[in-house]
Amino acid sequence: MATTTSKFSHAIFEKNSILLVIGVLVVISIGGIVEIAPLFYLKNTIEKVDGVRPYSPLELAGRDIYVREGCYNCHSQMVRPLRDEVERYGHYSLAAESMYDHPFQWGSKRTGPDLARVGAKYSDAWHRDHLNNPRSVVPTSIMPGYPFLEKTLLDTRSIAARMTVLAMEGVPYTPEMIEKAQVDLIAQGAIDSNGVDAMQKRYPRAIARDAKADKGELTELDALIAYLQQMGTQVDFKIYDDKANIR
Ligand code: HEC
Repeated sequence: MATTTSKFSHAIFEKNSILLVIGVLVVISIGGIVEIAPLFYLKNTIEKVDGVRPYSPLELAGRDIYVREGCYNCHSQMVRPLRDEVERYGHYSLAAESMYDHPFQWGSKRTGPDLARVGAKYSDAWHRDHLNNPRSVVPTSIMPGYPFLEKTLLDTRSIAARMTVLAMEGVPYTPEMIEKAQVDLIAQGAIDSNGVDAMQKRYPRAIARDAKADKGELTELDALIAYLQQMGTQVDFKIYDDKANIR
């Protein structure tokens, strides 16, 4: 009995190609609606994670140099959840870790290694040498040198405008953060300046560095290093690993 009915209903579609196409479209749309429609009702598709904060002004300035120089042509910024990647680079990347990136720097090409967790892996001095001339620390490196970054003073005046644009895109920079942008940028680039505490209140765990910003000597290289050194360090994965061990 059942076979006759199914034979009958199939026959209509098999003998009429237009009807078949319409039938296919109907079935595919149901699948599409089930998958896509709920996304429009979610406030956010990214889970918030403790520790993730917008970039400090100095880190942001460094990020702009990273984008300008096209470092993404050779470096990705996304550790995939595959065993070999996690063993080489560290915890796989979380969506929240790039939620304030406009544009994102995930990349699709790895001529050099992934950089998503390069922060705190080397000293500032190592980065300085490496960016000036990669061969001075990695003899077989094919990465180009960027010696001009150390010789170019950082443009500190446009930072508030850049943050204003990012705020329009949804990055939670407050009017206070934007007003203090240049002050915070200089504070982070001069380790003993008295603005460091105020800067760190706005950008927790942003590391102040000895780059003589208060003497007007802050370079593009200093900003780029500040950006590289915070990469992948905002989330404290130890908390999660410890929790996993207790269980
Ligand atoms: C032509 C491709 C290429 C470009 C462009 C490039 N790199 Fe690299 N990078 C490499 C390669 C290859 C390595 C591995 C050898 C080495 O350490 O120098 C590397 C290594 C690195 C490392 C060390 C990573 C680690 O975990 O050891 C950092 C940091 C880095 N690059 C930053 C940058 C930055 C910042 C820029 C842009 C200013 C940049 N790279 C542009 C190819 C490139």
